[in-house]
Amino acid sequence: MKKATLSLNLNNNLMKILFLNGPNLNLLSEREPQVYGNKSLSQIETEVRERAKTFGVEAVFRQSNQEGELVTWIQETKGQFDGIVLNAAAYTHTSIAIRDAISAVKLPCVEIHLSNIQAREPFRHHSVIAAVCAGQISGFGSFSYILGLEAIINVIGRK
Ligand code: DQA
Repeated sequence: MKKATLSLNLNNNLMKILFLNGPNLNLLSEREPQVYGNKSLSQIETEVRERAKTFGVEAVFRQSNQEGELVTWIQETKGQFDGIVLNAAAYTHTSIAIRDAISAVKLPCVEIHLSNIQAREPFRHHSVIAAVCAGQISGFGSFSYILGLEAIINVIGRK
């Protein structure tokens, strides 16, 4: 029988990752499918949670259209999560508050995007959050979430 893989954190608990989603990502599947794909956020969540299980990791998804709520959730990760995978959506390009929250909690964070932000309008080329993240994944559609999962597990494992 295949032995299950378990990813444990420093306290020997199961690794828990927060997937945080910003504005308009609740509209995935109906919103510009040519740019963002046909899957809904809940379909992506199901796929990521399944993949996370194979690593023995718990993935928790949250989405908000409000900057302050995202900031509060980042603050609340302390002691609750081992890392964050963040698609801050449009706030990627504007939110110093989200950047400061990531910086403040000192939890590893991987920035992700469905679309390739470098290949789009110039105002999307700059991320104010990237510098406080371990790295950025952009342009692989819903697979960016799977890559984000693998990247955050790797970053946490290096600590
Ligand atoms: C996005 C890219 C952002 O520029 C945009 O505002 C989004 C989604 C992406 O996943 O491709 O809402 O973060």
